[in-house]
Amino acid sequence: MNSVQIAQIMDATYLVAIILFVLAIKWMNSPATARRGVLVAEIGAALAVAATLADPEVTQYKWIVIALIIGAGIGIPLGMVKMTAVPQRTAMALTFGSLSATMIGIAEYYVGYPHVTRFEMGEICLEVIIGSLTFTGSLIAAGKLQEILPLRPIIYKGQNFVSLSVLGAAIVLAIAMVVHPNQGILFPIMIAVSLFFGILLVTPIGGADMPTVISLLNSYAGIAAAMLGFVLNSKVLVVAGALDGSSGFILSVIMCKAMNRSFTNVMFGAFGQVQASAAVQGEPRTVRSASPEEAAEILGAANTVVIVPGYGMAVAQAQHKVRELFDVLTRRGVDVSFGIHPVAGRMPGHMNVLLAEADIPYDRLREMDDINSDLPQTDVALIIGANDVTNPGARTDTGSPIYGMPILDVDKARTVMVIKRSMSPGFAGIDNPLYYMDKTLMLFGDAKAFVGDLVRELSAGQGAQQPASSQRTVSA
Ligand code: TAP
Repeated sequence: MNSVQIAQIMDATYLVAIILFVLAIKWMNSPATARRGVLVAEIGAALAVAATLADPEVTQYKWIVIALIIGAGIGIPLGMVKMTAVPQRTAMALTFGSLSATMIGIAEYYVGYPHVTRFEMGEICLEVIIGSLTFTGSLIAAGKLQEILPLRPIIYKGQNFVSLSVLGAAIVLAIAMVVHPNQGILFPIMIAVSLFFGILLVTPIGGADMPTVISLLNSYAGIAAAMLGFVLNSKVLVVAGALDGSSGFILSVIMCKAMNRSFTNVMFGAFGQVQASAAVQGEPRTVRSASPEEAAEILGAANTVVIVPGYGMAVAQAQHKVRELFDVLTRRGVDVSFGIHPVAGRMPGHMNVLLAEADIPYDRLREMDDINSDLPQTDVALIIGANDVTNPGARTDTGSPIYGMPILDVDKARTVMVIKRSMSPGFAGIDNPLYYMDKTLMLFGDAKAFVGDLVRELSAGQGAQQPASSQRTVSA
């Protein structure tokens, strides 16, 4: 086979890979087709790698094999983390991806030196700046999500001025490099300034805003990969990076909407600056709690039940028990649906993935905007391990870190039941006024165990004749 034929086969393979990437993104849009989407994305990536390895310019494989072994050694354990740790795992994946883009950009500069053209320098600078800030930004995000670093926003006076000045300095250095590509001394300074900007970008962001920052960093990593494609003259990398960058950008916009954050604020790293309002300490307040028998009696008598899953359901791995609860209630003629908040859990689509794993029919999963209008007519809102996404304080408490975030209006249902283990707060670290409402019953216990008890009670057709909830006084 001559080199022209090899090049044609490579181009055809890249084209197939690109088509598979586009199809993958389309299929990942729905839980029903998401698995297929992941599979075709994997096939596309494998084809792109195989075509690249077949390139006649690749003359020896020794270093590639060594890198493959090291990469697999890091990647396999990273892929096996618990689902609740996926956000920090994603942040680490972005860290490695952006680091490789940065390092290849650096290598390209020094390999080409002193014959790098201005155009090439522009491409390299863009790639290295975006790659470097994504590298440090993702590292800080992973540290915050793993709670190695403080989750609270780190804020100081004049912060935006400092951050924008540092970004401005990186851009000025990049312009100087484009004008004088041989000014090698400026290159490491530009990289150091960009790395520093990544730290400044993410440290002011509080825990509640982390979903948005992860999808934004994902978008940056995609842009860095696309720029890398220009530097290496790789069409498949340009397209894959652009797809990643644009889908990450669209996801960021969706997340901003879900969190009610202005995208401009996010872009300038100025979000998450609301001071966390601590729960009122020491003031005893009363909540009503109920036993599984009492809760089963109420559920069995309801016509409509909306189940709201959250992070606690994921921690307890209660999705299969929830499926059993769905089945037993449906058999009794209760209309059961699921209210899904876009940021419930710890990653976009977290609840959809878990409920799909338990084979809950997709048409029973309803988005927040869709289900909120039905909640005032709902007999029981059953919250399973969700907290922040049901906090009515987000509507009224201007000092709350989640103020303005749209929530599931569970407080408007006729009866509210909340399964959680204690009165501990959720991710945002704030108290939830929902728990102190007269219509709310706290069902204290592990989600899996409590839902299991509910299923047992409902299956046996038992339940207390007179649901008599008990009072419990807690310090908020
Ligand atoms: P959270 O507000 O984090 O509340 C989870 C609740 O689950 C806790 O109050 C906890 O109370 C309870 N819980 C934990 N383990 C449990 C168990 N084994 N059984 C029963 N309950 C258990 O969750 P949410 O309502 O899903 O909200 C998500 C939060 O995470 C939001 O603030 C969001 O901004 C943030 N976040 C989201 C994402 C994405 S993209 N989804 C990413 C990062 C951060 P107890 O300890 O009392 O049991």
